Amino acid sequence: MQRRTFTALGLAVAAFAASPPALAQSTPFKIGLILPMTGQQATTGRQIEAAARLYMAQNGDTVNGRKIELILKDDTSLPDTTRRLAQELVVNDKVDVLAGFGITPSALATAPIATQSKTPEVVMAAATSSITEASPYIVRTSFTLPQVSVALADWAPKNGIKKVVSLVSDYGPGIDAEKFFKDRLTFNGGQVTESLRVPLRNPDFAPFLQKVRDLKPDALFVFVPSGAGAAVMKQFLERGMDKAGIKLIATGDVTDDDQLNDMGDGALGVVTSHHYSAAHPSAANKKFVEAFSKANKGLRPNFMAVGGYDGMRVIYEALKKTGGKGGGDALLAAMKGQIFESPRGPVFIDAQTRDIVQNVYLRKVEKKDGQLYNVEFDVIKDVKDPGKTK
Ligand code: DHB
Repeated sequence: MQRRTFTALGLAVAAFAASPPALAQSTPFKIGLILPMTGQQATTGRQIEAAARLYMAQNGDTVNGRKIELILKDDTSLPDTTRRLAQELVVNDKVDVLAGFGITPSALATAPIATQSKTPEVVMAAATSSITEASPYIVRTSFTLPQVSVALADWAPKNGIKKVVSLVSDYGPGIDAEKFFKDRLTFNGGQVTESLRVPLRNPDFAPFLQKVRDLKPDALFVFVPSGAGAAVMKQFLERGMDKAGIKLIATGDVTDDDQLNDMGDGALGVVTSHHYSAAHPSAANKKFVEAFSKANKGLRPNFMAVGGYDGMRVIYEALKKTGGKGGGDALLAAMKGQIFESPRGPVFIDAQTRDIVQNVYLRKVEKKDGQLYNVEFDVIKDVKDPGKTK
């Protein structure tokens, strides 16, 4: 009896000593994570959710005594749904941060809500250059299409590729890729002889590829969003375009690590430019890939996963910097200027633009241990988004 009283008292004292000083710190810190978990962009949602949960498993679910609560919502990649969910998360759930955003229209639809409610919007996937200009509360941990497209337009003419046809998904990131690739290739003395755009929803690549075959360029430059690359690759090979002497070059969205290994040996040799490869040879990345794979039945992380993982880190570190207190403006200020080593390499959140500055790699699809990987062979360091208008 006596011993029990003593123990209870001991626990009470310990609990008192550990109790947080401010009341705000006893309420959970809520992250509203809006992702496409179903529909055409579902692999983006699956990758980012898994990465966010991995980050929390590795770093704990409390920061400065404050419990972190992740509230996941499926927007099926329809921007009207994204906007409604963001509104509900801010008004009803009183989230401290909005995060996720699988495609550009979803990120843009949420921007006015972030601005009005002074809630940081951490864009983990969408990659049209102008997104960060849609609200001063947007911070991006993914990439931009101009950032990666320019590197390929520098590489191509030095490697015998002068005449190119481009084929992009007909919306924000595709139009960015088309423009920045073309402008840079032209500057380098090359030529984009035809710019083709394919619908984002239910694309049929066949008629476009037939046209490319007839045009016979040195190469076809492609951007399609994550999840659509395998279909492009399959149809490109089925039509014998490679045998007809047309090279496939692309942003890394096409040889997406989520699908690459199932594309078959026809993908060997395809050169892409991007900010992340699961084969990136750093200790931090090896650790990340292993832990991600172990937690997700062998799934290989792709660039979406890294955007989600780093986005969680930016949120955690910002909350730490505010001593667990949070607050939209204080969090935003603490997100700006963060520098750290990501699984992709060194990264920096530019305080001026709130966009990510990072290395861009040239990669070639190769076989390693019987598996297909994007193997990096060159790097352009610390690339800022070239698409910013200010
Ligand atoms: C976007 C979506 C993607 O899946 C991708 O790979 C690149 C950009 C976007 O909608 O911004």
